[in-house]
Amino acid sequence: MIYNIACMDILLLQKDAQKKIDGCASLNDLEQLHTAYLGKNGEINKLLQTIKDLSLDDKKTAGKQINELKQTLTRFLSEKKVSLTEKQSNETKFDVTLPGTPFPRGTLHPITIAISEISAIFEKIGFIRMSYPEIDYEYFAFEALNMPSTHAARDDFETTFLSTPENKTYGRMVLTPHTSNGQVREMLRVKNPPIRMINIGKCYRPNWDPTHTPMFHQFEGLCVDKDITIAHLKGTLDYFVKEYFGKDTMIRLRPHHFQFTEPSFEVDITCTVCKGTAVVNGNKCKICKSGWLELGGTGMTHPNVLKAGHIDPKIYSGWAFGFGIERVIMMKYGIDDIRNYYSGDVRFLNLF
Ligand code: PHE
Repeated sequence: MIYNIACMDILLLQKDAQKKIDGCASLNDLEQLHTAYLGKNGEINKLLQTIKDLSLDDKKTAGKQINELKQTLTRFLSEKKVSLTEKQSNETKFDVTLPGTPFPRGTLHPITIAISEISAIFEKIGFIRMSYPEIDYEYFAFEALNMPSTHAARDDFETTFLSTPENKTYGRMVLTPHTSNGQVREMLRVKNPPIRMINIGKCYRPNWDPTHTPMFHQFEGLCVDKDITIAHLKGTLDYFVKEYFGKDTMIRLRPHHFQFTEPSFEVDITCTVCKGTAVVNGNKCKICKSGWLELGGTGMTHPNVLKAGHIDPKIYSGWAFGFGIERVIMMKYGIDDIRNYYSGDVRFLNLF
């Protein structure tokens, strides 16, 4: 009877222990189970206590069974230990060959990109890249460009004047409203033509709307030499627009007026969207409405401007143009709001 109870106890204990070991989730818990079963005051030892009153034969059999149970439990516990250790180390293991999380990379600003593209295009045909002051005297911004003090552009609604002391020869200081201030400065620097300059810089005019920002960029071409004609001007502009906008782009010159060029023109290019047809999918092109987009001003250098640059207009002739950088990028990519450039919105900047 007592022997049977001992047998039952052994079986029950084994079942219970197996269940607990299986369900054990950490090495710590497993350690506790180890002590609970195999420790000095553990279940196995307790069982051994219960059989001391059995007959010698029963004691032998029961003792043998308890020993087997002890071995089984030892095996269970050590197998579980192996699997828990493996699991734990898998959780902390990582693959050092996996690529890391990429850092967000900045890009060049679209204006910076355009400046280097435009510089490269003109450098290829021998133009020298210059940078003239963006804060300059009235003299270089207007006077030397044949623009009398009564000219509308010299009104303080059009140009920002600085409150610095006036210079006796060169007048007040302004935030240059165009890069044309570099024309006479370049003539004075070079002294003897030929001159082939591309002047890129910041300009300021107090306007703020979808096509104007108070600060913007222009690139100014100037060519002075003997026998320079409109043919050279047209050829250079044609080369530039084909390089910058694409091979199928064409130009046209429209008569216009600037104080510092005579004759003066406005340059148009064939629309980059409708390719000059004025039609998109059977509808009137919304970008240009006419097939043409206005690029900017140009013309043959006025004799008074050459004189201001100490160049004899009887020997030399030249031409100049001034185009907006923001504007050419907008024309190239169909951007409709100039303020995008200065909004700091990375969704816009990432497109370049
Ligand atoms: N400076 C003129 C402007 O800003 C452009 C221009 C430059 C025109 C050179 C003729 C020659 O509009």
